[in-house]
Amino acid sequence: MNVLLIGNGGREHALAWKLKQSKQLDTLYIAPGNAGTAQCGENVEIADNDVRALVEFARQKKIGLAVVGPEEPLAKGLVDALEAAGIKAFGPNAAAAQLEADKAFSKQLMRSGAISTAEGRVFDRFSDAKAYIASRDEPVVIKAAGLAKGKGVIVCDDPAQGILAAEKIMVDKIFGAAGDRIVVEDKLLGEETSILAFVDDHNMYVMESSQDHKAIGDGDTGPNTGGMGAYSPAPVVTEEMMSRITREILVPTIDAMNRNGTPYRGVLYAGLMITSGGPRVLEFNVRFGDPETQPILLRLQSDLLEVLLAVCEGRLEEVFLKWDPRPAVCVVMASGGYPGDYQKGKVITGFKEAEELADVVVFHAGTRQQDGHVVTSGGRVLGVTALGANIAAAKARAYEAVDRIRFDGAYYRHDIADKAIRRKR
Ligand code: AMP
Ligand code: GLY
Repeated sequence: MNVLLIGNGGREHALAWKLKQSKQLDTLYIAPGNAGTAQCGENVEIADNDVRALVEFARQKKIGLAVVGPEEPLAKGLVDALEAAGIKAFGPNAAAAQLEADKAFSKQLMRSGAISTAEGRVFDRFSDAKAYIASRDEPVVIKAAGLAKGKGVIVCDDPAQGILAAEKIMVDKIFGAAGDRIVVEDKLLGEETSILAFVDDHNMYVMESSQDHKAIGDGDTGPNTGGMGAYSPAPVVTEEMMSRITREILVPTIDAMNRNGTPYRGVLYAGLMITSGGPRVLEFNVRFGDPETQPILLRLQSDLLEVLLAVCEGRLEEVFLKWDPRPAVCVVMASGGYPGDYQKGKVITGFKEAEELADVVVFHAGTRQQDGHVVTSGGRVLGVTALGANIAAAKARAYEAVDRIRFDGAYYRHDIADKAIRRKR
């Protein structure tokens, strides 16, 4: 079967790497891909949001399955367009993708399904938001309601900071039109986790837990990014917590989507805070997480293509996934300056030396080929991912590999997985 994978991030390299292992795969195309996906299949120069060109390409190449990585094409209706052309596509349609693309929609959906989340209000006017924030005594979180590449959230310590953040988003438009509307939420305390589940018309399969590291700096300091590293499993998610999450969050969300007339299919990603009162939703995403996918897929021992097809064909009940019991850790190497401005075109060396280490895979994100070299082309550049006998060993192995990779201005956090290591002691 020919498969078309859409996207160019670290998540897509991990998906491509895993899809390539499938016995059912003939040719894998990646649009537009990066220097890493080019090692797994054929990169195609079509932008990930060029719906018309992607559908045309899929027709020409007799694509048996299209797999949509990022949120933007999902929200733009890529799955709708592919299916209208008779092409099987993995991911939710545009109506269901609102669960991520519109935080006001997802807040309303959670309210309708009595799904635990932070107390929150939606505002279209800065003056109203300002009055509300000023009336709160508690720390608030200000979120652009639209899509902002994982960066549209500002966590504030007091109302004054909150008002400033709302002004930056709504008036200065630091996240563009995504900030025409904002959600103001109470700040939740606890440890975060990402829970991803395959969902088809009748069934759900919850994957192994993981944890992202959103902030740019060690000790979770500084502004939020798309994600600076991840590990799987997350010890904060005990077996008992996982069954609460399934019962209190995932199942009610799928039910609420059905009742709303926007049934869900694809990967449902719940970003959760495990508070002293139980799991609370921070956000939903309608796709695989980036970088969570890198450690999760390194641990998946089953055929990913079979699973994705089963979801598209409503046969998820036939699927049983096998996982490597060993934990995996992914350390993101970024361009210095990210999530602000950064330079591109820096030559990257040391791939071979890093991957000589056992159980290490270097997933590419913002990379491309240039004059026979791999060079940087984005904020998050690589996701250096390793398995280990335990979480501390996986961390040590991942950083050993990071040490062997060089590019000008390379930046990474030093404390990925430390929360898990502390819990395991
Ligand atoms: P989101 O994109 O909504 O998941 O927000 C990005 C990040 O901001 C989350 O992963 C959390 O680290 C943080 N965050 C979002 N909402 C809250 C909240 N209500 N309380 C505390 N932290 C939050
Ligand atoms: N790792 C966060 C995200 O994928 O949105």
